[in-house]
Amino acid sequence: MKAIIYKSKALLSDIDLNELLRKARIHNSQHQITGILVTVIDGFYQYIEGPEDYIDSLYHRIVMDERHHDVTKIYEHPLTHRRFHNWSMGYLNLIHVDDLAQIENHENTVEEFQALIERIMPLELDESLQLQTT
Ligand SMILES: Cc1cc2nc3c(=O)[nH]c(=O)nc-3n(C[C@H](O)[C@H](O)[C@H](O)COP(=O)(O)O)c2cc1C
Repeated sequence: MKAIIYKSKALLSDIDLNELLRKARIHNSQHQITGILVTVIDGFYQYIEGPEDYIDSLYHRIVMDERHHDVTKIYEHPLTHRRFHNWSMGYLNLIHVDDLAQIENHENTVEEFQALIERIMPLELDESLQLQTT
């Protein structure tokens, strides 16, 4: 297994997030992919984890997706156990961009990311797009 975190830029008002998440969750649960999608003011952060081949091909499709741009990988590493095993694709709407920017300068990025998500999660869950367990 492996995990990737990337960030990207997007005009969120132009994107149907419900539709994006609905399709992503179907695909991910069929390919043992789990993770979390985070929206910030000007785009996305996403953490994906799962079998290496599936993660590589998903990441390739995500990079090609015209709904966002400037996709930048900020973490890529082998994984022995899942961090977000309950979620085919969790969703978190964040405005605390500064918090997230910090993870890019941190050596232990994935632990930081997970800790940050868990710390903020109870406060910032978007009501219209509830986290889904698979
Ligand atoms: C920010 C963002 C995150 C995405 N996350 C996923 C995901 O987790 N799983 C997934 O199957 N598709 C995800 N997609 C959609 C893919 O980019 C792509 O549209 C989808 O896999 C269908 O690809 P296809 O049209 O080549 O079949 C995401 C798209 C964007 C813009």
